[in-house]
Amino acid sequence: MQRDSGAPLFEFFAGGGLARLGLEPDFACVFANDIDPAKARAYRTAFDDAPMHQGDIWKLSAADLPGQAALAWASFPCQDLSLAGARRGLAAPRSGAFWGFHSLIEKLASENRAPDILALENVTGLLSSHGGADFAALVHALDDLGYRVGAMEIDAALFTPQSRQRLFIVAARNAPSALTVSGPAAPFHTPALRAVVARLPDSLRKRFVWWRLNAPPKRNTRLADLLDETSENWDAPEKTERLIAQMSPLQRARLDALRESGRREVGAVFRRIRIERGERVQRAEARFDGVAGCLRTPAGGSSRQILLFVEGDQVRSRLLSPREAARLMGTPDHYPLPEGQTAALHLFGDAVCVPVVRWLSQELLSPLAGAALARRIA
Ligand SMILES: C[S@@+](CC[C@H](N)C(=O)[O-])C[C@H]1O[C@@H](n2cnc3c(N)ncnc32)[C@H](O)[C@@H]1O
Repeated sequence: MQRDSGAPLFEFFAGGGLARLGLEPDFACVFANDIDPAKARAYRTAFDDAPMHQGDIWKLSAADLPGQAALAWASFPCQDLSLAGARRGLAAPRSGAFWGFHSLIEKLASENRAPDILALENVTGLLSSHGGADFAALVHALDDLGYRVGAMEIDAALFTPQSRQRLFIVAARNAPSALTVSGPAAPFHTPALRAVVARLPDSLRKRFVWWRLNAPPKRNTRLADLLDETSENWDAPEKTERLIAQMSPLQRARLDALRESGRREVGAVFRRIRIERGERVQRAEARFDGVAGCLRTPAGGSSRQILLFVEGDQVRSRLLSPREAARLMGTPDHYPLPEGQTAALHLFGDAVCVPVVRWLSQELLSPLAGAALARRIA
């Protein structure tokens, strides 16, 4: 079913609008919301039509939302679900913002203008939070609103050279059989997802849908292809030496072998605290597989990713630049970088990968919106 312009989109927890970047032109954003003034500013700079309403989702009312959306996207906060945090779950204030979203959808439903489709994105920790109880509560809540709910785990590394496994939950008022499969299928219905679905109460499990989503073509970019060659913020040699000294003996042997090969290689390094023989040791952990580690928000020195350039005997290091972070998220180079490194890295570390959203849109969300429109017209 063709439309003249994109199907109406509400973008919640919009951040810098990277979901929107992946959803256009299938969907056209008519409303966006984020609580953070810096994110709202970045959003308004990136999109001059600026349907951005800055503020707490709990303070929005149905009257703030124009008409009926085909799709409501919600990349809700992950801090209480992430394996790195205290995992207080969906009842905690930050990740609990999901309930603010849910309450708005409930109000829209009571006015007969619930979005046809909901797409939620979060860390995969949501699958195991409180032993699966948080995932079950979320599925239950959407199911109660009359949606058929399904989910997928997608690693951005299939699309862009960044390892970033995320959970995508898609709920639709109808699940056309052409867009579903009868049971879990690789690669996106992962063992962790199958396990948590198997533990859902019978009635919920029976209504859970396995969305049909094809795997994308093989990725043809590597970290080295996305480098900002104009970046000259090289670390002093002593700093690079200190970084190398923090590597494990095995990693250092690997680095020596790369040096001897004479090839130019670019590795991605994170510092992590490890417990070794009962002691806390700071380790520099490098990967040289052409893929960057998962971008994080800059919450301290160790959350900044470092690039290590090996060219024969010469080894140099520098921090990953904001433009490189943007590219690893699949954001085009005309996307304006927020002012200041920290703000930029915060925006991209928190965001959803554009090519993943685009794939999901092309393969599933847009066909679902087309089917919903066809039903409405019939
Ligand atoms: C995981 S980020 C989503 C980023 C966005 N999808 C993107 O790609 O840039 C979550 C966002 O939710 C926003 N947020 C957190 N609590 C909120 C609340 N109570 N109301 C509205 N937005 C909130 C944060 O400021 C943050 O930008």
